[in-house]
Amino acid sequence: MPKTPDYFVGKTVVITGAASGIGRATALIFAREGANVFSADLDGAGAERTANQVTQNGGKAAALGVDVTDRAAVDAMVGRAQAAFGRVDFLFNSAGAAFRRAKFLEIDDELMDKTFDLNVKGTFYAMQAVVPLMLANGKGVIVNMASMSHKRGGPGASIHYAAAKGAVLTMTLGVAREFADRGIRCLSISPGPIETPFQAAANTPPALLEQFKNDVPMKRFGRPEEIGELVLFMCSDAAEYMTADTVYVNGGGGWR
Ligand SMILES: NC(=O)c1ccc[n+]([C@@H]2O[C@H](COP(=O)([O-])OP(=O)(O)OC[C@H]3O[C@@H](n4cnc5c(N)ncnc54)[C@H](O)[C@@H]3O)[C@@H](O)[C@H]2O)c1
Repeated sequence: MPKTPDYFVGKTVVITGAASGIGRATALIFAREGANVFSADLDGAGAERTANQVTQNGGKAAALGVDVTDRAAVDAMVGRAQAAFGRVDFLFNSAGAAFRRAKFLEIDDELMDKTFDLNVKGTFYAMQAVVPLMLANGKGVIVNMASMSHKRGGPGASIHYAAAKGAVLTMTLGVAREFADRGIRCLSISPGPIETPFQAAANTPPALLEQFKNDVPMKRFGRPEEIGELVLFMCSDAAEYMTADTVYVNGGGGWR
């Protein structure tokens, strides 16, 4: 929670991947705090649904169908958010996917390229689009979605994805440190398994899902809201000395 009451009222967050899962939950949490929400996703109708839910709850929101692997589209997204609300204070890069599970020798160029285009370049483009605005404002916070998998390497199922999230972590560190004395903070979150459509999208087999759960001492998947509340905290004035790091949210698991 923020240190100052109403800290988020009238401020704007741009969220990629806002149609589903963690992005969507985070959009609703920021709206609860009075922030303007710019909901962006490849699934334009889904982004619209999230924005509609915000406005039905009395908040302000706009939506856009955006492919974050397209630099021009990402630039336009940030321009649209600035035009809609007159300011961009926060960026949450939640768009991401593992596409499919594959053993190391089965990872082909197409899977590697798609995984890096979405998770790494998508995050890179959005950060490059928003940093000039944040520099002009003298402040801003960027939160990127990494994954616990970067720590474990994803053996047997997701080395492509773990490596991409490792790159997200490293970019976050670099951006944070390059702009630390100009009011911009940049953080990443490294969750364990969270209950969203993500696993279905990656065709994760039931046995692997069970293995993920058993590896968590709390014996359950996390909920998307349990990540969204952390994004809110990171963007708030209660976390002003916090930058560059990743925060692990995993029910005690993932260190094996
Ligand atoms: N769910 C988990 O277990 C888990 C664990 C660790 C990290 N993560 C990361 O959290 C983030 C959010 O995942 P989630 O669990 O909410 O998954 P999700 O599948 O529910 O949501 C991902 C969203 O990203 C969107 N997206 C995909 N490609 C896109 C593109 N090219 N341009 C714009 N949007 C695109 C999808 O349409 C979807 O709405 C991802 O970066 C994911 O890698 C998830």
